[in-house]
Amino acid sequence: MIYKFYQQHIFPHMLNQVMQTPSLMQSRHELLSSIQGEVLEIGFGTGLNISFYQNIDKLYALEPNSDVYQLAHQRIQKAPFQVQHIQASAEKLPFADASLDNIVSTWTMCSIANLETAIAEIYRVLKPQGTLHLVEHVQYHDNNTLKKLQDIFTPLQKKIADGCHLNRNIELALSNAHFKFVLKASYDANGLPKIGRRMFFAKAQKM
Ligand SMILES: C[S@@+](CC[C@H](N)C(=O)[O-])C[C@H]1O[C@@H](n2cnc3c(N)ncnc32)[C@H](O)[C@@H]1O
Repeated sequence: MIYKFYQQHIFPHMLNQVMQTPSLMQSRHELLSSIQGEVLEIGFGTGLNISFYQNIDKLYALEPNSDVYQLAHQRIQKAPFQVQHIQASAEKLPFADASLDNIVSTWTMCSIANLETAIAEIYRVLKPQGTLHLVEHVQYHDNNTLKKLQDIFTPLQKKIADGCHLNRNIELALSNAHFKFVLKASYDANGLPKIGRRMFFAKAQKM
């Protein structure tokens, strides 16, 4: 009962705050400002990406957690484009095959229960020349101590942060699903604990 209260009334506000860390907001700007047309965002969260889109026509805001989504209300009201809530999970996208030009994932792939299935769904609904734009926190590959700590703390992190894994290799997961990267970079974000600081920033298309 206490855990349910935490998940419904405390965690969404913590998420809304942490996800506004200045280094993350800067990454949102770099990832999103050049996107045009229609966009599907998976794990829309509290709508923090809205103000960074400069030239889009419509946003499909896929967010399964209604306690999180309701904190996006004011940002959606101010959006200069249509925002349509899709209450669904990334593992089962309610879109036709090859129907979307742009899919965005900002720090969502860490939290998806079945990442392989979700990536296959993203692949299915993207048009052949469509782009997946992503920035995610990932597992270290060049620091064994931090890598091991990420493995050790992931079960706890999943409990306190709604299923978030600290130790995912998103680049490998996307490569295994036949995505090719048209841009990719890794960096350590400022203002976060070391254990969650390594980021993977990329634009990927179907092979
Ligand atoms: C760390 S938050 C990031 C939110 C937002 N993308 C941002 O950049 O602020 C992860 C989000 O993924 C959502 N999520 C969790 N599992 C999901 C799934 N299976 N499909 C889609 N979204 C999911 C959560 O509800 C949450 O809003």
